[in-house]
Amino acid sequence: RGDPLVLGIETSCDETGIGIVRGTTLLANVISSSMEEHARFGGVVPEVAARAHLEALEPALRRALDEAGIALGDLDAVAVTSGPGLSGALMVGVGAAKALAVALDKPFYAVNHLVGHVGADVLRTEGEPEIELPTIALLVSGGHTSLLHVRDLTSDVELLGETIDDAAGEAFDKVARLLGLPYPGGPQIDRVAADGDPTAVRFPRGLTLPKDLERHRYDFSFSGLKTAVARHVEKLRDAGLEVPVADIAASFREAVADVLTAKAIAACSDRGVPRLLLGGGVAANARVRALAAERAAAAGVELRIPPLSLCTDNGAMIAALAAQLIMAGREPSGLAVSADSTLP
Ligand code: KG4
Ligand code: ZN
Repeated sequence: RGDPLVLGIETSCDETGIGIVRGTTLLANVISSSMEEHARFGGVVPEVAARAHLEALEPALRRALDEAGIALGDLDAVAVTSGPGLSGALMVGVGAAKALAVALDKPFYAVNHLVGHVGADVLRTEGEPEIELPTIALLVSGGHTSLLHVRDLTSDVELLGETIDDAAGEAFDKVARLLGLPYPGGPQIDRVAADGDPTAVRFPRGLTLPKDLERHRYDFSFSGLKTAVARHVEKLRDAGLEVPVADIAASFREAVADVLTAKAIAACSDRGVPRLLLGGGVAANARVRALAAERAAAAGVELRIPPLSLCTDNGAMIAALAAQLIMAGREPSGLAVSADSTLP
């Protein structure tokens, strides 16, 4: 078939992602993470991330070409995340993508990282059903917590709400640190929480009170929750009591999963959209997945969660979105387009 062969480059945070797709078929998805270099700082350090992208890009590109069994010259287009994300990190990817596009004399597509997360779901292996639109999408990672109404991937994506303070993954990372667990905290909390009682402590559910719902029906807030956990732990320590890490982790995880899934399912009902797509690293969370499945089933909503390698930041989703743009006949981006850390 004549589907476009597209290279996707993702460098918005700490993952250097190089993906190659042909239309909706995934050919390669190479991810090189600088996570370990940030671990001792307890969070992603922008300068360190940018430098790591510079070092990782070329080897990752070579591996992806190998995996896909193609040469650079075979590509029909080069795509890149232009934002949102860390400014310096984005610039590395955008510079590399432009250089490749110019050198290969191929069209250049700059795309939005968040829409890319939704784009991941068009990548199907044989036998799986195609993505159906419209869909509600909940994107939850260390950098974002956004609820989208997607009617058309290439032209109609509505932002319903987002976090007004910390991202969900960021809350996991901060609470993990507070409990003495290593970075990244999400998987650690998930592991520890498995042995805890989720009803041990009733932590606050941000922006769910009737007065909040008026203005922030689809928005999220996790900083109050993080503070509540901190205060709870502090009180126990001050009283010389042991901190029941598993119970606190489970209770915290429950609060996050409760709010995320309640708001996402509410959006499905309000908008009359019987489909929900999860993306971002927090979509790996066992409780988020279980509660989403439970509530989706109860509401008659079809739940889709792409494989984890396509849920977390990666280049394949960027290539997939660009392939959609090309197949929809959209013009390439001009080379004047640059990294935009605050892209809406
Ligand atoms: O999508 P991602 O790989 O990168 C971006 O932040 O964009 O997401 C990473 C985030 C981190 O905050 C990490 O703690 C969180 O996703 N995460 C999890 C789990 N696995 C990763 N959070 C909760 N439960 C998990 N199992
Ligand atoms: Zn992301």
